[in-house]
Amino acid sequence: MTRIVRTSFTMEKELTEQLESLVKKSRYTNRSEFIRDLVRDRLVQKSWEGSGDALGTITLVYDHEKRELSQRITHLQHHHVGEVLASTHVHLDEHLCAEMILVRGKAASIQALADALKSQKGVYQASLSMSGIVQVSYEKTTHRHAGHPHSHTH
Ligand code: NI
Repeated sequence: MTRIVRTSFTMEKELTEQLESLVKKSRYTNRSEFIRDLVRDRLVQKSWEGSGDALGTITLVYDHEKRELSQRITHLQHHHVGEVLASTHVHLDEHLCAEMILVRGKAASIQALADALKSQKGVYQASLSMSGIVQVSYEKTTHRHAGHPHSHTH
């Protein structure tokens, strides 16, 4: 069970008002939740910069009729076989394809793969979303997601 502690800190009035306004506009029901997630995000960011592994998804939209593009995309994934966990290909219409690539590894390697894919001619969209795998502060935390009310160690 995670122990919750009460803490306090000081902040400029104007900044506090801006915080209140951010919380109001967000999906958060209170300030504490908002700040907790801010800190978690920062930890994720830090783990990207450090030696920790990151988990990511690269989403591509491309024209498969562009010369050898499908082969080049496959080739790049084979080149990063240590990072690529799985990929799903969806045919969007007669020309366009979407590909979602699930990756895990050093943030820099994942970024390099995403950049290489993005720079291919015929790739119209390439987005990378990364989550850090934070070892310390996420240990034995209870997940708030509805589907995972249990505690577990990463
Ligand atoms: Ni396709």
